[in-house]
Amino acid sequence: MTTSLDRRSPPPASLLDPIETASRDEIAALQLSRLSWSLRHAYDNVASFRQRCQTRGVHPDDLKSLDDLVRFPFTTKDDLRQTYPFGMFAVPMDQVVRVHASSGTTGRPTVVGYTQNDIDTWATVMARSIRAAGGRRGDRCHISYGYGLFTGGLGAHYGAERLGCTVIPMSGGQTEKQIRLMFDFQPEIIMVTPSYMLAMADAMERMGYDPRTCPLKIGIFGAEPWTGAMRAEIEDRLGIDAIDIYGLSEVIGPGVACECIETKDGPHVWEDHFYPEVIDPATGERVPDGEIGELVFTSLTKEALPVVRYRTRDLTRLLPGTARSFRRIGKITGRSDDMLIIRGVNVFPTQIEELVLRDGRLSPHYQIEVSRDKHLDQVTVNVELRPDNAGDGSVAEAVSRDLQHHIKSLVGITTRIRVLAPESIERSMGKARRVIDLRPKE
Ligand code: DLL
Repeated sequence: MTTSLDRRSPPPASLLDPIETASRDEIAALQLSRLSWSLRHAYDNVASFRQRCQTRGVHPDDLKSLDDLVRFPFTTKDDLRQTYPFGMFAVPMDQVVRVHASSGTTGRPTVVGYTQNDIDTWATVMARSIRAAGGRRGDRCHISYGYGLFTGGLGAHYGAERLGCTVIPMSGGQTEKQIRLMFDFQPEIIMVTPSYMLAMADAMERMGYDPRTCPLKIGIFGAEPWTGAMRAEIEDRLGIDAIDIYGLSEVIGPGVACECIETKDGPHVWEDHFYPEVIDPATGERVPDGEIGELVFTSLTKEALPVVRYRTRDLTRLLPGTARSFRRIGKITGRSDDMLIIRGVNVFPTQIEELVLRDGRLSPHYQIEVSRDKHLDQVTVNVELRPDNAGDGSVAEAVSRDLQHHIKSLVGITTRIRVLAPESIERSMGKARRVIDLRPKE
């Protein structure tokens, strides 16, 4: 049996793919040859990419070094939408063995496709991610990411199988059943959104289980922004190691980057398959490693849907490798499209999350409502008391005063605080909805 101590020590090199500990020069050489293939593959087979290159006067032959990538055009979600559903696929449909789609709260969803080799690459990077998180062959792996068009469930599933785990394909929902099966089947690993993990911990308590006695040792959490404060809350309540996994459908799905359990210092990007850049979102210029900006990815090996300089809208920075040779990304502070501008102040939901989680009287569930009152935007933060503080009006009043003060002094905006009874805020079984925008659509 693998103990928590074994899992937290650096794995022997024999367990890793050789490229994970290769020198930066070896990584760069592999990236350059793969990048040159990928650009040519996209140029030859995706008409809209070829046109954008021609408009910019650039051709795949112009790539002589990795730095030449900056000469190529960006790809955006809009480019995918405009060619909905399959217009950016670079292989004939009879080679596409699977499609997924992002939910797309507004407009058309974005559709992504995979060849058999792409599915294989995805399983490899997901298996590598689970191993980085401390998972090992023989572990039982409970998957609560949704199965279906969302990439979370099936992406995690194929990776766990590839690593040699016993997969429990639960998907989202049926929370009480999930918990009963978890206590019966004794999985070491869970893969789920961090917000749903916390909802499950609440449900365990309601059902009379102590979350710290649950069999889990490791949680692999992603698909939504979450803070260090949320990691501490999850680790403490469930007695597990909480690991950050990052990914997006357009680039492949979960498993673009994952943290290592021995360092927990931000996800390592699997740079042999996905080439990262960070740009200034306003100018499009690349910024040096260490500086915050918008994360951009170029796929190096994908066949069905190669993406060149795909703008993720996620804000973070690139950091040097630690536990692996690949560079890391810092915690995603938010998406540029989640950013609220309240009377000129830029606010991310994660900034409010830090402050809510800092208050021990409050549960970690919250929602931010934005409304418009006489042309001015108003922000209401809905929070709920932990069960042991419920029913005491004076606690609610004090909490409201304190939180309002902290948000004003640390984030810089005036808010209304609505302190609700336990279990009042909607629980998501996938990605949590943090912002409810009630402003009239212009
Ligand atoms: O959420 C893929 C995924 C599934 C990742 C399960 C990790 C685990 P999409 O639905 O296309 O794909 O959404 C991608 O989710 O651009 C980020 O804004 C956000 N996101 C994903 N992982 C993280 C993370 C999946 N670890 C979008 N931290 C991305 C912060 C994340 N945000």
